[in-house]
Amino acid sequence: MSKTSVRNGLTEQNEDVMNLIAKLPRIAAYIFRRTYFHDEHIEPDKNLDWSANLAHMLGFKNDDVKRLMRLYTTIHADHEGGNVSAHTTHLVCSALSDAYQGFSAGVNGLAGPLHGLANQEVIRWINKLRDELGGGKPSKEQIEQYVRKTLDSGQLVPGFGHAVLRKTDPRYTAQREFADKYIEKDDIVQIVRDLKDIVPPILQETGKVTNPWPNVDAHSGSLLMHYGIIQYDFYTVLFGVSRSLGVLASLCWDRALGMPIERPKSVTTEWVKQFVQEEVGQN
Ligand SMILES: CC(C)(COP(=O)(O)OP(=O)(O)OC[C@H]1O[C@@H](n2cnc3c(N)ncnc32)[C@H](O)[C@@H]1OP(=O)(O)O)[C@@H](O)C(=O)NCCC(=O)NCCS
Repeated sequence: MSKTSVRNGLTEQNEDVMNLIAKLPRIAAYIFRRTYFHDEHIEPDKNLDWSANLAHMLGFKNDDVKRLMRLYTTIHADHEGGNVSAHTTHLVCSALSDAYQGFSAGVNGLAGPLHGLANQEVIRWINKLRDELGGGKPSKEQIEQYVRKTLDSGQLVPGFGHAVLRKTDPRYTAQREFADKYIEKDDIVQIVRDLKDIVPPILQETGKVTNPWPNVDAHSGSLLMHYGIIQYDFYTVLFGVSRSLGVLASLCWDRALGMPIERPKSVTTEWVKQFVQEEVGQN
């Protein structure tokens, strides 16, 4: 029984979550078709599964894209609760805000370049590399020079590193295996393969990067590009639709388990002064 007058119990939460998951692919496809295809829309096909229907409503009919979308939506659902979008969704709803409010906050976090936007940044970065070299497939030496130039200019190499993982992201590996199985020849996919060999030793040379290995975002854009989904400003939206599966399912658990409102610990000014004195004393 809810302790407040707000519509926020487990039953309502489940209902909102199911509604959101059901409608998000359609909303995303609507925006996609409106933005890139003259506002011409495609009705869902009730015989298709959730992921294949997303491909279908975006306008991609062939089975290859549906197969890719099944992999894509599954691996982007979620992999642990501490990342920005998952944690934000949980945090906002811990105040008994509803699933719509929590999820919209979560996807705003996903929009940051250190998080979900990295999938767009990777393609933008690869396009710039190719533009600078006049197009085509760059050599490994040219890619290495470009990686070094990126770091020397104080920028991140998008698609590499992770706050928690300490090895190649299994979601990267799943996409790499998909590419090896289904894609024979593609310049961008090949650049992504080369980057996996070239970038980690260079990041290790810096002596500060905790995890130099590729993450999920290093690969996803190249697969979408290969199958004709070239509107890369939309990639983080696809990430967001997929992420709904994980973070919204977690909201049901939060309510079922009666998780309390979340709040980080605060410290006093005295504590800060003492901390600084101790740190200064030590150095
Ligand atoms: C994911 C990420 C935010 C993790 O951050 P983190 O936990 O602070 O990572 P680290 O502990 O390895 O960071 C230590 C240092 O290495 C740097 N670093 C980490 N990844 C780097 C990368 N891909 N390129 C260049 N420098 C990087 C950090 O900026 C930090 O530098 P600083 O001490 O000068 O501030 C970070 O690796 C990153 O920005 N990667 C690129 C963006 C990306 O692909 N995001 C998607 C993640 S799934």
